[in-house]
Amino acid sequence: MNKNKLAIVGATGLVGQTILKVLEEKKLPIEEYAFFASSRSAGKKIHFLEKEYTVQELTTNSFDEGFTYAIFSAGGEVAKKYAPIAAAKGCIVIDNSSAFRMDGDVPLVVPEVNPGEISNHQGIIANPNCSTIQAVVALKPLDTKYHIKRIVYSTYQAVSGAGYKGVLDFQNGITHYPSTSYNLAKFPSPIFNNCLPHIDIFLENGYTKEEEKMINETRKILKKPDLAITATTVRVPVLNSHSESINVEFEKDFELSELKEVLQKAPGIVVKDDSYNEMYPTTLDSNDKDEVFVGRIRRDFSVNSGVNLWVVADNLRKGAASNAVQILEKLL
Ligand code: A2P
Repeated sequence: MNKNKLAIVGATGLVGQTILKVLEEKKLPIEEYAFFASSRSAGKKIHFLEKEYTVQELTTNSFDEGFTYAIFSAGGEVAKKYAPIAAAKGCIVIDNSSAFRMDGDVPLVVPEVNPGEISNHQGIIANPNCSTIQAVVALKPLDTKYHIKRIVYSTYQAVSGAGYKGVLDFQNGITHYPSTSYNLAKFPSPIFNNCLPHIDIFLENGYTKEEEKMINETRKILKKPDLAITATTVRVPVLNSHSESINVEFEKDFELSELKEVLQKAPGIVVKDDSYNEMYPTTLDSNDKDEVFVGRIRRDFSVNSGVNLWVVADNLRKGAASNAVQILEKLL
């Protein structure tokens, strides 16, 4: 039998490092690993599963040695250039960037939601945006039961979602507080002691690209191309784990107790919802976990059949690394 060989592209990044951690926990049947990054990191050492590996510079020849799988987490430009090269050489690529997510022939997969899509791949499988992943894990079981009519997303996103440079801006903000005059590596304004309603670039229609991603990716994953969705995505001074307020309107009516039961029974969800005892999910609850936490579940009295949810997940794990590794597990 052929050996399973896995390449990690972007192995030195925040998501890349989290992928390594998740892989160490899972102990998958993979015989060989290789780690790639930019020329800046070539030669760096990585300790992984009790062995020492050397980070290699990613080049157009990197996939010549015949990898079975690759997980890319090095941004859209790297993915656009190198993922097709890897796929052409028979490697199945799971890509974390937004480069291929909306391509018609690329499955966009959250294993709890649409695992059946994986088998439709033609060499590349896309991992959705971090904010989309946690939202659809919570929304899919509700859509199946009550048929979603409209969604309003408001997000509170951690700085780790912006990679090492985002974390650096946050830490520099703490160090220099109360001064706000220090060099910013990632964000357009200081993020410490601040909230920025601005994630990714602005589009002509006034939305940000992050908001557009949440709208389009939700429609694709739920297979509802015309679903009414609006979104406001906000970067908040939290180190890790994204929180989302999700307002949902359904076609069908629901009993609140039954809706909570649907969420409790759904895969990958932990319901933490006991307002009487002031119990609800926070970012600290979800750090280092793979589940999506749901709470503050309450009826929206302003419409016929609506609910408000508070949805929290570790954006580096379920929002990126763990979701990609779960896709790999399904492939294996
Ligand atoms: P490097 O560490 O060499 O810059 P983050 O999102 O945390 O900033 O991580 C981005 C990841 O993508 C890093 O591992 C980074 O490597 C990698 N990367 C960035 N540009 C390239 C490139 N041109 N080729 C390969 N890897 C890249």
